[in-house]
Amino acid sequence: MQNIIKKIKSIKSYGLKNGKRNFVDYNKERKVKERKNKTKKRVQYYYAIDNDFIKKNNEIPNKYENKIMQGDCLNILKDIPDNTIDLIFTSPPYNFGLDYKNSQDEHYWDDYFKKLFEIFNECIRVLKWSGRIIVNIQPLFSDYIPSHHIISKYFIDKKLIWKGEILWEKNNYNCKYTAWGSWKSPSSPYLKYTWEFLEIFLKGDLKKIGDKTNIDITDSEFKEWVNAKWNIAPERDMNKFGHPAMFPEKLAERVLKLFSFKNDIILDPFNGAGTTTIVAKKLNRRYLGIDISQEYCKIAEKRLKGEL
Ligand SMILES: C[S@@+](CC[C@H](N)C(=O)[O-])C[C@H]1O[C@@H](n2cnc3c(N)ncnc32)[C@H](O)[C@@H]1O
Repeated sequence: MQNIIKKIKSIKSYGLKNGKRNFVDYNKERKVKERKNKTKKRVQYYYAIDNDFIKKNNEIPNKYENKIMQGDCLNILKDIPDNTIDLIFTSPPYNFGLDYKNSQDEHYWDDYFKKLFEIFNECIRVLKWSGRIIVNIQPLFSDYIPSHHIISKYFIDKKLIWKGEILWEKNNYNCKYTAWGSWKSPSSPYLKYTWEFLEIFLKGDLKKIGDKTNIDITDSEFKEWVNAKWNIAPERDMNKFGHPAMFPEKLAERVLKLFSFKNDIILDPFNGAGTTTIVAKKLNRRYLGIDISQEYCKIAEKRLKGEL
């Protein structure tokens, strides 16, 4: 509790009066005067305002509810009706040359993005009005391809609202660096990274449609998780699940509790060993997980049955 109070005191736009939290007057606190009028002049979400998304949401057909489906997600997504999914959380193959069962992870970058964007087009279509897509991305720094920026630009061009970015601090090096680039010389030093990104996009509206009685995030979780740097260790049990690139359950738990309601329908089109779907089940959300590999789908099913 002491820590929370200390943290709140350090946030400038809050005040504490008799131990209770209250807002400090916005205009007094901020140096910018007439902030609202000035914001209006800049026209908020200017790139997203002229979208032509349909506002009518639909129920997901039964055959997709609480299912793991094997196949190329592009083909499977094409059959899913418009505006049926509340939230997509996914980590696509990063084009690192990883050894996935049943799919190549090494393409020319143009081909990689072409296919990925065809899949994301379908993802946007199946998302409900006010639905969210959250993509976990780790750029391949050694190729100097800023995938997180390229993917974000794609969603912005498609008129989704960029909600923000979470920095997932894994506290371990993403690659086994054996070299420093130009050792002790400014000519070409290598930069090292211990984190990945979560890019968050919204379809049509900042506010998600949902029933208040279906909120399950606690006060302390909310306060901690809106700080957009998340310290979460990487998945340590990848050998057990037989998958080379999983994210940990803790990451999916935070995403689902912070950005979705209970009973929402959650999709992961690159479901791998099924981390998103097992967390969705544990948190009383409905789920659909798709992966191209039969083997990974079987693992995801086993996790759902509690056999792994
Ligand atoms: C980074 S992994 C996802 C891991 C997952 N987040 C987890 O925790 O297990 C990407 C997955 O995408 C799958 N994949 C690759 N191309 C695909 C496609 N066209 N359709 C569906 N799945 C695909 C791979 O088999 C791999 O399991």
